[in-house]
Amino acid sequence: MIASLTLPAPAKLNRMLHIVGRREDGYHSLQTLFQIIDLCDHITFTPRHDGEIHLTSEVSGVDHDDNLIVRAARLLQQYSGSHLGITLDVEKRLPMGGGLGGGSSNAATVLVGLNHIWQLGLSLNALAELGLQLGADVPVFVHGHTAWAEGVGEQLTPVTLDAPWFVIIHPGISVSTPSVFQDPQLTRDSRPITMARALQGGAPEWRNDCEAVVKKRYPPIAEALDWLGQYAPSRLTGTGACLFAAFQTQQAAQAIAHLSAKRWPTWVAHGLNTSPLHDDLGYFTKA
Ligand code: C5P
Repeated sequence: MIASLTLPAPAKLNRMLHIVGRREDGYHSLQTLFQIIDLCDHITFTPRHDGEIHLTSEVSGVDHDDNLIVRAARLLQQYSGSHLGITLDVEKRLPMGGGLGGGSSNAATVLVGLNHIWQLGLSLNALAELGLQLGADVPVFVHGHTAWAEGVGEQLTPVTLDAPWFVIIHPGISVSTPSVFQDPQLTRDSRPITMARALQGGAPEWRNDCEAVVKKRYPPIAEALDWLGQYAPSRLTGTGACLFAAFQTQQAAQAIAHLSAKRWPTWVAHGLNTSPLHDDLGYFTKA
């Protein structure tokens, strides 16, 4: 058995997000383009023989057993019947609850990484199905490809998008995702569009239907969107709080990030079409 292995857990941006309906279980049907980006947490896996699952790093505000990282490992252990255990350590860079999918990506990296380390031989489809039990954004990270998504985000078609440089701003407040989805003023009836139409990009399709409600409820987010919008079209990712704009060059993105960083936590990230996790583990290398 290997001594230990460190794997990345990348973030995502929703390049567009339309809400096309409400389901009986209270969840919303979406159409979204998930783009994977090169901003990552890193998880170190140290195998153990006693079957125990431990997360050594503390994630603020989340109990050990409630952490998606621990829940993902336990779920896979139960599902596979493996008697092996794992010690997990996470080096966090992605803000929590910011719409970048950090928690979901951590869970996906645990599922894909443990499948490899415990030599379970499960398919990405099987892991994505398990991941969906942990959250609607987990499957895209399990499949590891920038994707067009429907349903609650689990019906995925891999796509190739342009790969700009993004300026990502966190306006310093936290957004309650359920309260945004429950807001009576939320647009819930966008007309479904085809994937081909979505891929053409541009206004009016590349919008986020959560944005109007989020701007109204959280004025600091409206302010940051307006500020970034002076330089390039700015948009919310997920239900926020993070927002982003795309630039053609790293230099252009860094110039704006330099200004933004005077007011808000800011990152520059590169758009990707495949996940660095899957690149590291050798998926997608052969036709
Ligand atoms: O799946 P996740 O835990 O991220 O969802 C958080 C909350 O957001 C859900 O409890 C639900 O209220 C809302 N949601 C929704 N429709 C989706 C995704 C999330 O209504 N497609």
